[in-house]
Amino acid sequence: MANKVFVTRKIPDSGIALLKAAGFELVVSEKDGVLTKDELMGALKKEKYDGVLCLLTDHIDDEVFNAAGKQCKIFANYAVGFDNIDLKAARTRNIMVTNTPGVLTETVAEHTFALMLAIAHRVAEADRFTRAGKYKGWGPMLLLGSDVFGKTLGIIGLGRIGARVAHHAVRGFDMKVLYYDVQRNENFEREYGAAYRDRIETLLPDADFVSIHVPLLESTKHLMNDLRFGMMRNTAYLINTSRGPIVDEQALLRALRAGTIKGAALDVFENEPAIEPLLLELDSILLTPHIASGTIETREKMARLAANNLIEALAGRVPPNIVQAGSS
Ligand code: DGY
Repeated sequence: MANKVFVTRKIPDSGIALLKAAGFELVVSEKDGVLTKDELMGALKKEKYDGVLCLLTDHIDDEVFNAAGKQCKIFANYAVGFDNIDLKAARTRNIMVTNTPGVLTETVAEHTFALMLAIAHRVAEADRFTRAGKYKGWGPMLLLGSDVFGKTLGIIGLGRIGARVAHHAVRGFDMKVLYYDVQRNENFEREYGAAYRDRIETLLPDADFVSIHVPLLESTKHLMNDLRFGMMRNTAYLINTSRGPIVDEQALLRALRAGTIKGAALDVFENEPAIEPLLLELDSILLTPHIASGTIETREKMARLAANNLIEALAGRVPPNIVQAGSS
């Protein structure tokens, strides 16, 4: 009998085509948006699915696993991050969980740099200014920004993405790189002339730009808080393309209003899609709607990788990107 897979939202065609070519019977949610938990559980209870392709916007907990039933072997997440999935519950129920690492590294690193350049050069603010008809002629003091070239970048979390951001910073903009990670990487230090800081507290005071690249864990929630904003330079910028709750949005608002830091550029939000409304009033912040991996090429690759994880797992083989092994 064909394997049956539920896809919680429309994804790029290449992934769907792979699943179909593997002979899977597919049900793709037709809702134009995120399924509520009740809708998701309702959909999963309707049929007996062997696997689910889910998104970072689906909160997958024990109740959802229960709704999927005993025959469901895998939840393939269409994201590198998997903080939306209760891994402990998956382990208890012997359900495999996979993710999509690697294929989005370059795109997220590019977006991080796009945010860094745009906030420093006040690109979005200048665009608003120009469209509003406020441009009345060149001026020596008009919308002055800050250089990125030659400045110091502090990277928090030296995984794949953090390392690529460092690469662009050093090779493209002659920046000095400081990094904090739980693990020191001396090869990286040699290659990029980077300096290791074993505590975030010793990185923050020396950085002109701070870019966050850690996963969301209990230990990284509100990693950027009042205390740590207070350690940053008042000329410095914060960039976050990782997960929203890593930054305490209220603390960020206080830091921007008080001029504790100069600016921030965020692709992710503490309670997304909701955003603290008072942040929207500030010109010192640049916002994008969780699109750091959002290029056509990368989203196609993510779709193929998620599909491939499902195909391998349901064929009884070891899929390439396991974050939680299921029953063997
Ligand atoms: C991920 O894959 O975790 C990203 O946040 C998606 O953009």
